[in-house]
Amino acid sequence: MAAEQEAPHDPPLPPILTYPSSTPPTLITQGAEARLYKTTYLLPSLPCALKYRPPKAWRHPILDARLTRHRILAEARVLARCRRDDVPVPAVYAVDESAGWLAMEWVGGVPVRVAINEWLARRRRGELEENENKEGEVEGDAPPVTGDKEEDKDLIALMRRIGAAVGRMHKTGIVHGDLTTSNMMLRPWEKGSAPSNGHAGSGDGLLDGDIVIIDFGLASQSTSDEDRAVDLYVLERAFASTHSRAEKLFSATLESSYREAFKQANIVLKKLEEVRMRGRKRSMIG
Ligand SMILES: Nc1ncnc2c1ncn2[C@@H]1O[C@H](COP(=O)(O)OP(=O)(O)O)[C@@H](O)[C@H]1O
Ligand SMILES: [Mg+2]
Repeated sequence: MAAEQEAPHDPPLPPILTYPSSTPPTLITQGAEARLYKTTYLLPSLPCALKYRPPKAWRHPILDARLTRHRILAEARVLARCRRDDVPVPAVYAVDESAGWLAMEWVGGVPVRVAINEWLARRRRGELEENENKEGEVEGDAPPVTGDKEEDKDLIALMRRIGAAVGRMHKTGIVHGDLTTSNMMLRPWEKGSAPSNGHAGSGDGLLDGDIVIIDFGLASQSTSDEDRAVDLYVLERAFASTHSRAEKLFSATLESSYREAFKQANIVLKKLEEVRMRGRKRSMIG
């Protein structure tokens, strides 16, 4: 009783999470449109991610209910299609579009953004220690990560897995709409199992794992090369701002593995050039 009063839910939980048989949910994130809870599904031992779109008080209730239904169903449809075509995404467990939620497989591991930043920070510490040993050397700005060093192999392998996953997604006719390294999870490989694509990591394992693309709230079914190019551009910009040291390496590596996964890649990458030019012009003006 006391505990319930201490932790009121505002807005309230979706009814499914208040059933006595439900595992108490943990709120993972709260975006403007959706909340993500970790709970369980069917078995107390099967963790699931429940994405809930609560009613929006500022929207007309009928319009709001319709929008929510459409978005939940669209996301579920895209996930199902990706699963069918072997694009690495969480499996859909259950949908209640009228109640505004979608239950899906819980993906273990950390967002790719977190893994890369940890890896870059560790690499930087190593560089600084090296410089301390050289007399007279002053610490400068962190030079770009170019991929020449042996230790960069893991990062290159990870980028290749990202390019392959995005290529497969585009091939099946889905554009993501919000591709960032926050919307990709790095799911650890099970002990003893070989990585599915042969790009095994060699170092400390920080970047080991399979890419799983998440957050299809803005995704759509599209085979337009322009849409695909914009998807890649968004990822490129996101990468440049969150992991600027590895920006150049990223574009080059991503392009080559994207090409391998997706036959029409050349047309998309040509478009990407145009999209980049537009982006540059815009940033010069504004
Ligand atoms: N299926 C999942 N398994 C594990 N964690 C997830 C899953 N889906 C989302 N998350 C976690 O919740 C966060 C937010 O989910 P996301 O779908 O990206 O919603 P938002 O629209 O708020 O960005 C993700 O960054 C990730 O850490
Ligand atoms: Mg997200």
